Amino acid sequence: MANKYPVTSATTLKPGEMKCFDVNGERVIVARVENEYYAFEELCSHEDFPLWYGALKKGYRVECSLHGAQFDIRDGQPVFEPATRPIKTYPLSIENDTIFVELPE
Ligand code: FES
Repeated sequence: MANKYPVTSATTLKPGEMKCFDVNGERVIVARVENEYYAFEELCSHEDFPLWYGALKKGYRVECSLHGAQFDIRDGQPVFEPATRPIKTYPLSIENDTIFVELPE
C-alpha cells in the first residue's frame, strides 16, 4: 500500500532544478527535467550525503557533490561510481498544478 501526499506547486521548480521537501516525515527530492518531474530519496547511497547539494546532469542524472556518484533519477540506479546501490524513487503525479508523491506505508 502507498499513500499519496501533496508536495508543492509544479511551477515552484524551473527546468533543471531540484528541491528537497518533508513529505509525511520523509525527506524527498523533487526534480524537474524539461517538463518532467521525478521524486527520489534525499540521501546518496554511498555515504548518506544530501543529493540536493549536488546537481542535475544531462540524461536524467543527479550527481552527488561529495564523491561524484551519479544516479538515474527515473529508477534510482547508480550509473557512476563510487555508489553501487540504488536510491529509492517514488511515483509522482500532477493534478491541477500540484505535485503529489506516493510513499509506501
Ligand atoms: S556520499 Fe555520495 S558519492 Fe559519496
